Amino acid sequence: MEQTLSIIKPDAVAKNVVGKIVDRFESNNLRIAAIKKLWLTSEDASRFYAVHEKRPFFKDLVKFMTSGPVVVLVLEGENAVAKNRELMGATNPKEAEKGTIRADFAESIDANAVHGSDSSENALTEIAFFFAKKELA
Ligand code: CMP
Repeated sequence: MEQTLSIIKPDAVAKNVVGKIVDRFESNNLRIAAIKKLWLTSEDASRFYAVHEKRPFFKDLVKFMTSGPVVVLVLEGENAVAKNRELMGATNPKEAEKGTIRADFAESIDANAVHGSDSSENALTEIAFFFAKKELA
């Protein structure tokens, strides 16, 4: 069993499609090991996305991720990292395959509905960023 971190971003939370997105996960054999809703500060978002610090979109990314509440989840299942990325679709919703979360719920590369860990190693770091061990069940 593998775990991965998912963030349902401010655009999707504002659209009130949290349940619909969570259903995609559960319907595809990903189990929710942890879930919470929170509002990131600029410091949180900058730390979480530190790997993108030098990218031209970093400032807009931090601004967007702090524009409203997010829902963070730990998803668990066989090949959870790859499975979640498959369900999400391409980063740019315009390039996302039909039936993926981003194709169905996202508007733009900034407001792209969800984030998912890109490797199991990064998943461990990202999960620890948001959740204490005792919150994972
Ligand atoms: P996410 O998977 O959360 O990881 C970083 C985010 O930066 C990405 O989704 C996009 O929402 C955002 N972003 C904005 N512009 C770009 C870009 N050109 N390439 C990659 N990510 C981008």
